[in-house]
Amino acid sequence: MKTKLQLQQKYSLNASVTLQNHLIMAPMTTWSSHEDQTVSTAEIEYYGARAKSVGMVITGSSHVQENGVGFANELGAYDDRFLPGLTELAKAIKSGGAKAILQLNHAGNKALPKFIADADVVSSSSVFAPETPFAPGQIPRSLTESEILHVIEDFGEATKRAIEAGFNGVEIHGAHGFLIQNFLSPHYNQRTDSWGGNLENRLRFAIAIVDEVKKIAKKYADPSFIIGYRISLEEREADGLRLTDTETLIEHLIAKKVGYLHLSLGDALTDHEHSGGNNEPFIQRISKLVDHRVPLIAAGSLNTFDRMASALDNGLDLVAVGHSLVANPDLFSQKELPLTLSKRTINSIHLPKKMFETIKKLGVFAFTFSD
Ligand SMILES: Cc1cc2nc3c(=O)[nH]c(=O)nc-3n(C[C@H](O)[C@H](O)[C@H](O)COP(=O)(O)O)c2cc1C
Repeated sequence: MKTKLQLQQKYSLNASVTLQNHLIMAPMTTWSSHEDQTVSTAEIEYYGARAKSVGMVITGSSHVQENGVGFANELGAYDDRFLPGLTELAKAIKSGGAKAILQLNHAGNKALPKFIADADVVSSSSVFAPETPFAPGQIPRSLTESEILHVIEDFGEATKRAIEAGFNGVEIHGAHGFLIQNFLSPHYNQRTDSWGGNLENRLRFAIAIVDEVKKIAKKYADPSFIIGYRISLEEREADGLRLTDTETLIEHLIAKKVGYLHLSLGDALTDHEHSGGNNEPFIQRISKLVDHRVPLIAAGSLNTFDRMASALDNGLDLVAVGHSLVANPDLFSQKELPLTLSKRTINSIHLPKKMFETIKKLGVFAFTFSD
């Protein structure tokens, strides 16, 4: 059984990047960027305070196109005007010894119409997207072929900005039902052109983005630049994305030599296939498939040191931590990691006030609140 001490040991992510420990800060939006989506001082302090605890900090999602915004006061990455703030952010993360990764996203059919010109919400197809705690139920517009190519290029442009800003890498957000998953999904992708239909076509968008990001990194960054990819393994819809589809995607991503694969799970120790299959936890099944060909990370309720260590025992290379780091910035100094937030202590834990208030108002997370 691995222990807290083993979590604290260094990890070689690739030939030239060593992480200071086995923990990763899971990407978490802060709802705290300025109204113009530039980085705020509160965000710099929040990330800086957590960067000492982990080997790598993945920022909350940043949108690569103006109409790709998934959260209020989300980081923007679609224009050069974001560069000064992103540069400060990368610096704050690296000053804690962690590698700095910018998460790149287009929210697709879950984008927020109130922040988008003409409420022009786009997706792979014009299929109704049900309401979520973050986005209204809505029918998006189907992207044209030339718009698809433009989105792909904009993932590349945002990568170029991440490089200029001093980030050590980017994470392509292929999870959570956002645009990339809208293309992978047989439910949401009803296209009849070469971007839809069979699995090979549905995978094209994700793979084209990986190729574009790699092309830009090769041109502008040194070979240590990290290109990670985040995945949701399945969809709930009866005709939605299935594990076998995702396993094919994973094989492609390994062939493309992505810097790491990052599974987004509810409970990383127990989640397993819900449509047929057996009860083998995803992390065991996927780690067998990946077989250390690329580093494998997962997030999901790994909120005690025992659970984190257990996840490594069950096949993960690295452990991503969300809630616990929000509430406990200096992770290893503590024995227990309570998920309690209080307005009284937000300054001492460097939690942006807007983030605290939004989390409390939404009421969908696992935090408890005290006075
Ligand atoms: C406040 C909050 C914001 C989040 N924002 C993002 C995000 O921007 N991008 C993303 O991929 N996941 C996001 N997530 C999901 C986390 O990355 C993580 O997968 C999830 O919280 C499960 O890990 P945990 O149980 O350790 O918190 C968010 C989670 C929380 C709690």
